[in-house]
Amino acid sequence: MKTSRIPGFYKMPIEERVKIVKEFAELDEEEEKTLLSFSSLPHDIADRMIENVISTMQLPLGIATNFVINGKEMLIPMAIEETSVVAAASNAAKMARPDGFKAKATEPIMIGQIQILNPSKDAVKKIMERKESIIELANEQDKILVSLGGGAKDVEAKMLSEDMMVVHLLVDVRDAMGANAVNTMAEAVAPLIEKITDGKSLLRIISNLAIHRMAEAEVIYKKEAIGGEEVVDKIVKAYEFASLDIFRAATHNKGVMNGIDAIAIATGNDWRAIEAGAHSYASLNGYKPLTTWKKNEDGDLHGKIKLPIAAGVIGGITKVHPIAKISLKILGVKNAEQLAEVMASVGLAQNFAAIFALSTKGIQAGHMKLHAQNIAVMSGAKGEEIDIVARKMIEMGKIKMDVAQEILNEIRKNKKV
Ligand code: MEV
Repeated sequence: MKTSRIPGFYKMPIEERVKIVKEFAELDEEEEKTLLSFSSLPHDIADRMIENVISTMQLPLGIATNFVINGKEMLIPMAIEETSVVAAASNAAKMARPDGFKAKATEPIMIGQIQILNPSKDAVKKIMERKESIIELANEQDKILVSLGGGAKDVEAKMLSEDMMVVHLLVDVRDAMGANAVNTMAEAVAPLIEKITDGKSLLRIISNLAIHRMAEAEVIYKKEAIGGEEVVDKIVKAYEFASLDIFRAATHNKGVMNGIDAIAIATGNDWRAIEAGAHSYASLNGYKPLTTWKKNEDGDLHGKIKLPIAAGVIGGITKVHPIAKISLKILGVKNAEQLAEVMASVGLAQNFAAIFALSTKGIQAGHMKLHAQNIAVMSGAKGEEIDIVARKMIEMGKIKMDVAQEILNEIRKNKKV
């Protein structure tokens, strides 16, 4: 039976981890080789991705283990520079087993906005009357999308001020993030909208507040699995803090996005778009936490998350970047909705991990080991010296460069003897 529960995964050498992931996700030899040897995006590919390329920059790709999402065992690829995030997600997923996370996502409907200046007085009504012709013109721009069941589905319009209106084109973008399809359609229908409204179009662009493309997840942490009802109460209080205080809510949501962004980056998705959508959604009624945590009638902890997630499994660099392609294969998601469900679940797990640590032993304890290892590397430690220097600093309770250097000098002096 396939399982994402892999005890000791963190202690294995990279080659062994890759072997396990290969077997789990049925990767081929080539993909295994890519994971083991990928050190940089070839410059000719990078040069075609953005302008003025002079080099590339890498991030570590980690695997969060233990996830069960909608009854399916899953390994989660996460690209991130921050220590402890992958470990925290894996621990949170472990505590949620065997039931794990239940998630769902809506159809992938994005909004294209067409800004109209100086429209006629009855412009909104006229747009509603000509809805079908606007949709038809939009759909002429992307026959493939329409053949896949996507395309423009609806039109909305409203006055923003006396002399400005906005028209929303609602587009089902299927498995793409959707910016290209939506922007092309918005530009194409703008002249028709000008004619209908007697106004002048200005901006024609997707909205990142993807309010019609929502993902939700929920989880129940049994009180026994997380240290008892006292811990449940502390986590509920931690959530209440975020719901009452915007300064805390920002950090609470940052923790959520640690998980979501790391998957977005690993799969080649536009994480700035997802961030913009998440935070603007969180602000709809005054900035609020993206998750809720309550104690249920059994005294267990019930967590929920709901946010817009505009992520795709085709388009952009999802099928261009070698690691993005493999990350999608590791996830085994079939469409954009499933990817959004995974992201929402991992965001919820990441948030649980953060407030669990914060409301019990504090966040620094978990950060210490990798932080100490980073300081050891910065002090010049190599190979096995890194672990020795890090361990000694933790024992001394002093994780600082000068201390690392002293320990390193000591180790090297003793070696010479
Ligand atoms: C750090 O990257 C994220 C946390 O600050 C999130 C939180 O405070 O909930 C730990």
